[in-house]
Amino acid sequence: MKQYHAKIKGTGRSLPDKILNNFDLEKLVETSDEWIKTRTGMSERRVAADDKASSDYATEAAEQALQMADIHAKELDLVIVGTVTPDHAFPSTACLVMKNLGIKNVPGFDISAGCPGWIYTMNIAKQYIETGVCKNILTIGVDLLTRITNYKDRNTCVLFGDAAGASIVSRASEVDISRVIDSDISADGNYWDLLVQPAGGSRTPASYNTVRERLHTINMEGNKVFKLAVRSMYNSCETVLKRNNMDTNSLDWVIPHQANMRIIEALGKKLKMDSSKIIVNIDKYGNTSAATIPVALDEVIRSGKIRHGDLVLMTSFGAGLTSGSLLVRI
Ligand code: ACO
Repeated sequence: MKQYHAKIKGTGRSLPDKILNNFDLEKLVETSDEWIKTRTGMSERRVAADDKASSDYATEAAEQALQMADIHAKELDLVIVGTVTPDHAFPSTACLVMKNLGIKNVPGFDISAGCPGWIYTMNIAKQYIETGVCKNILTIGVDLLTRITNYKDRNTCVLFGDAAGASIVSRASEVDISRVIDSDISADGNYWDLLVQPAGGSRTPASYNTVRERLHTINMEGNKVFKLAVRSMYNSCETVLKRNNMDTNSLDWVIPHQANMRIIEALGKKLKMDSSKIIVNIDKYGNTSAATIPVALDEVIRSGKIRHGDLVLMTSFGAGLTSGSLLVRI
């Protein structure tokens, strides 16, 4: 069977206009700008408009990615959305994005993999392209975590923001140096309860009590997640680098999941990666879950910081616990 190669042909992002900064949070819970900045690296985050849902921001990001790739939505063979905050439990957000883009009769589905959701979509897209089944795939990472955040819990409410990032993964020509080179994805359900939205699913359906007790919001054991985050992202990076006979010296850039500046620094140290090569935008957007990496990637491509031919390693971890990495030559 002939094997094809995949490449990222276009990227896009969409961020809500409304800003929630650390001083706004000081009015909601007992916290301070100083605590949030030193413990997380965050200054502000974006909050979705009341009349918008994940599919709206996802569609805007997708339209930008299609424009950069210079293809029409009708040329897409598959749409995959990574999200833990879909518009509805069903139908999938992918179906709603397809409706918004005016396309039908191609497959579309969501992936629930927490923050590495977009890495998971890219892992799947890579394989559909390499087997020749698809030529153009839209992958999206979108989350509106503020919709499931408890603004009475200072342990979590300072961390999260809303955003969408999209990419077009297309078949690369033989001479093209751009490539989705490799991807590793993994999960360990033994840690499911460290990061969970307890109610609203089949285990604890919505009820008056679940709403009153705020069980539809994010519950997290931050300390434990912190330690696992560094280890799981490092292991995933090592897996991908070793498999391709590379080390961090081969890389031009690392784009880590933007969950906490201290996690990013600890990972950089473990990887022995110069901090100037690590892409960070956590101060502006906080943790936007599945959107952090595609948003950061789009920013640095559009600003010209990352250029055609650069080798980029992206890595993430999140609810599951899940983890994953993606090695790409832009
Ligand atoms: N303001 C002021 N004090 C606070 C705040 C706050 N916002 N939050 C917690 N504290 C207090 C705690 O109550 C505690 O006080 P105590 O010592 O009196 O009990 C103290 O600060 C230290 O708390 P820790 O939890 O030990 O603080 P830590 O340094 O670990 O930082 C944090 C907490 C920021 C949550 C960190 O653990 C973290 O980032 N963990 C990883 C989270 C993460 O990456 N999640 C990703 C999941 S996203 C997804 O998948 C949907």
